[in-house]
Amino acid sequence: MLKLHDLHFKPFINTKELDAAVQNMVDAISKDLKDEMPVFVGILNGSFMFVSDFVKKYPHPCEVTFIKLASYEGLKSSEDIQRLIGLTQDLTGRTVVILEDIIDSGNTLAEVHRIFKNENVKQLLIATLFYKPEAYKKDFKLHYVGIEIPDKFIVGYGLDYNGLGRDLPEIYQLKTTQHMTNIVLFGPPGAGKGTQANFLKEKYDLVHISTGDVFRYNIKNETALGMLAKSYMDKGQLVPDQVTIDMLNKEVEKNTDAKGFIFDGFPRTDAQAKALDELMDSKDSQINAMIALEVDDEVLVKRLLERGKTSGRPDDADETIIRNRITEYYSKTAILKNYYSDQNKYFGVDGVGSIEEITERLSKVIDKI
Ligand code: IMP
Ligand code: MG
Repeated sequence: MLKLHDLHFKPFINTKELDAAVQNMVDAISKDLKDEMPVFVGILNGSFMFVSDFVKKYPHPCEVTFIKLASYEGLKSSEDIQRLIGLTQDLTGRTVVILEDIIDSGNTLAEVHRIFKNENVKQLLIATLFYKPEAYKKDFKLHYVGIEIPDKFIVGYGLDYNGLGRDLPEIYQLKTTQHMTNIVLFGPPGAGKGTQANFLKEKYDLVHISTGDVFRYNIKNETALGMLAKSYMDKGQLVPDQVTIDMLNKEVEKNTDAKGFIFDGFPRTDAQAKALDELMDSKDSQINAMIALEVDDEVLVKRLLERGKTSGRPDDADETIIRNRITEYYSKTAILKNYYSDQNKYFGVDGVGSIEEITERLSKVIDKI
């Protein structure tokens, strides 16, 4: 992840892919122009890195020069007129190849064509490393295109966002979802997860997604996914992860304005953790932390037996059942602890103490991520 000014960017195209794209362009252009001495014209500032790598790879003699777009204030102050400057060389009869870092709307390219109209060049070829077909509004032919990309803002490898990012050796893409706080909350039965989730959701403006609640909601309201889940449950089969993920996806999409989510009851397996990562990634987001409330077994047993006296839940009344539930919790979550630890996202929090004390400890972790 990368932050430039106020915006967040994620890795998009690595140096290896860039190198391959530049090499492909070199191969195509050198094949077409092997009998020429081309003049490569880079458009500053964005193309400096591309032009440098390109001409280093170019296998035949060539000339290299640069021109720059300069903004002049128009007659009305709102009018922004762009003019190319720096073309001092006589290019009569020459084969000129424009090397652009990126072609977006095509406005810059229109200006290039305007300036070269009177230069009497032999031919004017356009080569661009990046091209956004969805944004392109002109008819000028693009002779060589390195990589077609979606209409999203990118930085790196010469390209900037308000002056920053040109120096980066790889390309990053703007994240459309801004930084969110997404937490997977864990805790053995009796750890006080529900109480803490309620508090955290208020304090950090998060949406609490309890998988159990989501299931009950979908089944009760007979949604398509609910009916699908029920068809497996009725046959005594496990609901496939994809069905659960699709339900969670719906919950995430219902809350596009949320600052983040607390996932509770999911994931339970390695495969589910991966699926959740993919879901968040598809939203330009990520799981930031797995927070596990840690409470000693004996304390849990005491708490649950105490709760059983008033809650009426049969599984809170029997010490053997309680101990089994706790053992099952640890055997199941051990895998996930490893999964998130490997990404440095596991945070154990001492779950013994007053509600306020535990909240305080959880807040310390969240404030850090
Ligand atoms: P045009 O819209 O094709 O004229 O592109 C104009 C200029 O906008 C490019 O030369 C870049 O300087 C800038 N630009 C367009 N898209 C991007 C982007 O995704 N990242 C950084 N600069 C961009
Ligand atoms: Mg440019």
